[in-house]
Amino acid sequence: MANANTNAEIGVIGGSGLYSFLEDVTEVTVDTPYGSPSDSLFLGEVGGRKVAFLPRHGRGHRIPPHRINYRANLWALRSVGVRQVLSPCAVGGLRPEYGPGTLVVPDQLVDRTKSRAETYFDGVPRPDGAVPNVVHTTFADPYCPAGRAVATKAARGRDWEPVDGGALVVIEGPRFSTRAESRWFASEGWSVVGMTGHPEAILARELALCYTALALVTDLDAGAETGEGVSHTEVMRVFGENVGRLREVLFDAVAALPAEGERDCLCVAAHDGWNLGIDLP
Ligand code: ADE
Repeated sequence: MANANTNAEIGVIGGSGLYSFLEDVTEVTVDTPYGSPSDSLFLGEVGGRKVAFLPRHGRGHRIPPHRINYRANLWALRSVGVRQVLSPCAVGGLRPEYGPGTLVVPDQLVDRTKSRAETYFDGVPRPDGAVPNVVHTTFADPYCPAGRAVATKAARGRDWEPVDGGALVVIEGPRFSTRAESRWFASEGWSVVGMTGHPEAILARELALCYTALALVTDLDAGAETGEGVSHTEVMRVFGENVGRLREVLFDAVAALPAEGERDCLCVAAHDGWNLGIDLP
């Protein structure tokens, strides 16, 4: 579907509080074999790079984390040419030192979700008749090392020292964690907790996309705070306070990502030599 005006090389999936990213955009509606993505794609340019922005929860935050069509979202981005994805998201801090306003660029992920379509290779014939093969994807390191390096450098360049690494645990939501759950996550050594990082990261890898999460801490999670627990209002307020500098970091990171053809990370070769049974877009 991509032509000169409807293609992009870098995708940005905006989370809670980041519903628009670029100023001068072309809105493109994309359909996929997995249904509709959360919203239109908004195509524009940053630092000479073509970018597709997708609001993860849809405009007006209509779609809760467990009902997002993650497969359609990643497929739609790839179908317009995207090969590298930056994924900002709101998270809770699991350690007292990771308070609101902390930026974490995780290097590990723990899946505690329950009900999400998390693979393209489920053996189920698609509506278009294509049948995916059984494919087991290497996922030991779920995030793109090159993208992580670019994101951490971009944050430092804006005087925002990020936490470089750590595990993001993804819960099903839409409820927040209990104190016992949250203390357990922390005792496992995990750093932050969110609701959308899975299955985004694995679906990106299945599509051989580079994927980098930029996790903005909006609150201390229930096990780390001493008040009445996390509130959605607080999450949105803190995200709003930080969205300006997050946008700046994203702009700088977009401009600094490797050019297509210069990607030499593990993501690119995710399925080299495999017969997938389906054509990637
Ligand atoms: N998103 C923002 N804060 C969160 C928290 N404490 N738990 C899960 N998701 C979140």
